[in-house]
Amino acid sequence: MSYNLLKGKRGIITGALDENSIAWKVAEKAHEEGATFVLTNAPIAMRMGEINALAEKTNSVIIPADATSIEDLTHLFTESQEVLGGKIDFVLHSIGMSVNIRKKIPYAESNYEYFHKGIDVSALSFHKMLAVAKKLDAINEWGSVVALTYMAAQRVFPFYTDMADIKSMLESIARSFGYQYGLDKKVRINTISQSPTKTTAGTGIKGFGDFFDYADAIAPLGNASAEDCANYCVSLFSDFTRMVTMQNLFHDGGYSNTGVSDAILKKLGL
Ligand SMILES: NC(=O)c1ccc[n+]([C@@H]2O[C@H](COP(=O)([O-])OP(=O)(O)OC[C@H]3O[C@@H](n4cnc5c(N)ncnc54)[C@H](O)[C@@H]3O)[C@@H](O)[C@H]2O)c1
Repeated sequence: MSYNLLKGKRGIITGALDENSIAWKVAEKAHEEGATFVLTNAPIAMRMGEINALAEKTNSVIIPADATSIEDLTHLFTESQEVLGGKIDFVLHSIGMSVNIRKKIPYAESNYEYFHKGIDVSALSFHKMLAVAKKLDAINEWGSVVALTYMAAQRVFPFYTDMADIKSMLESIARSFGYQYGLDKKVRINTISQSPTKTTAGTGIKGFGDFFDYADAIAPLGNASAEDCANYCVSLFSDFTRMVTMQNLFHDGGYSNTGVSDAILKKLGL
């Protein structure tokens, strides 16, 4: 069912790699809710070509951009305003990549070149995106920017290795930039801390399947799906959340506030 929550709003959605991507679901939902938007991803991800189907389905234009490149981001924000016919109302940052995780390198043995790459792609890209948008004055007043994060920023999940530190930085950027952009232009910036979700980035993590089931058994509502996350993103892009900014918002079926669950105790035979 559609509520036209984003009718007349213009957006930029990063990170839709395939139909499992959280960003893919966000694009489908935003389209359903009346938004027009540009889809973007790293040029290398474009080669897989799956994003074309999403663009067709949502009547969107694709503008490739490596989120670590100021030049690409400047082109993205300039062209997007051109294509969409005005300033941007919402932006989704749905970008994450750790070479240390990919290569299954234990946290204490992190390769620092890979660590730097992870920081640049997954956290600094958010700062760069916001800095470029602010410089170009590309986002409308009361616009909304959302980035996706994970609870390993607050608590230890050993398999998340360097991404835990990187997500802490991402969440901090949301607060720091949220203050600046809020004061200057009333632009809101938040992070959504999402449940484990079966996507390319998610399932690349060692032991992800077991952990997915564990989290599902702890959370009283179970894990939040990518579709649920898309709904939450849409609500944050809408005018119904105008005074929400600089927050890290847990979207995890109650996992973050549950110590232990009956289901887990039962599994342990207690
Ligand atoms: N899947 C989970 O369990 C989970 C849980 C919490 C948060 N998240 C976060 O959600 C976000 C989206 O991930 P996903 O799970 O949908 O996986 P995904 O693999 O579908 O999406 C990650 C995206 O990042 C893009 N990307 C990588 N490097 C880039 C670059 N240099 N420039 C532009 N784009 C680049 C990839 O092409 C891909 O589209 C990430 O920030 C991730 O950390 C995921």
